[in-house]
Amino acid sequence: MTDTEKQLRVSKIQNGTVIDHVRGGQALNVLAILGIDGTGGEQVSVGMNVPSDELATKDIVKVEGRELSQDEVDVLSLIAPDATINIVRDYEVVEKHRVERPESVSGVLSCPNHDCITNADEPVETRFEVLRDGARCVYCETILREDIADHIAGE
Ligand code: CTP
Ligand code: ZN
Repeated sequence: MTDTEKQLRVSKIQNGTVIDHVRGGQALNVLAILGIDGTGGEQVSVGMNVPSDELATKDIVKVEGRELSQDEVDVLSLIAPDATINIVRDYEVVEKHRVERPESVSGVLSCPNHDCITNADEPVETRFEVLRDGARCVYCETILREDIADHIAGE
């Protein structure tokens, strides 16, 4: 067996997206961001804490039949800054891009601070400045870190 064959833990997909080089332990948050909980019938494979050259260990998420939108990729960058998005068509990787971290995200995260203006009855859209390891509300400075996936607006 070649090294590649030995390392392939999750089978290849035919059409869809492979989110690779996800920080170890973040795969379930990736699924949460994509709104995938299994009830929609999507065909999804997940590898957790698999060995990786670039990271100590990585998670990997493969979603059959779905290509991600730029909005989804922006949010993913918050929890998986080193991730690679691979678009697969007919078993071949036809596009590969690294996620890019936007400087800020608007209307994507909700602020957990009940006193924040974005939670008052005002027409103020949420905006979070993206930090190296989280995001900070520009209105009340509340910082989201590990719990970031719990505050994706609209999920
Ligand atoms: N992959 C898949 N199904 C396919 C093609 C690729 O699940 N039909 C997965 C591979 O297993 C790998 C990722 O998509 O995890 C990227 O594939 P590829 O670009 O072929 O691998 P590498 O060159 O190792 O990627 P990188 O350089 O980004 O690590
Ligand atoms: Zn706030």
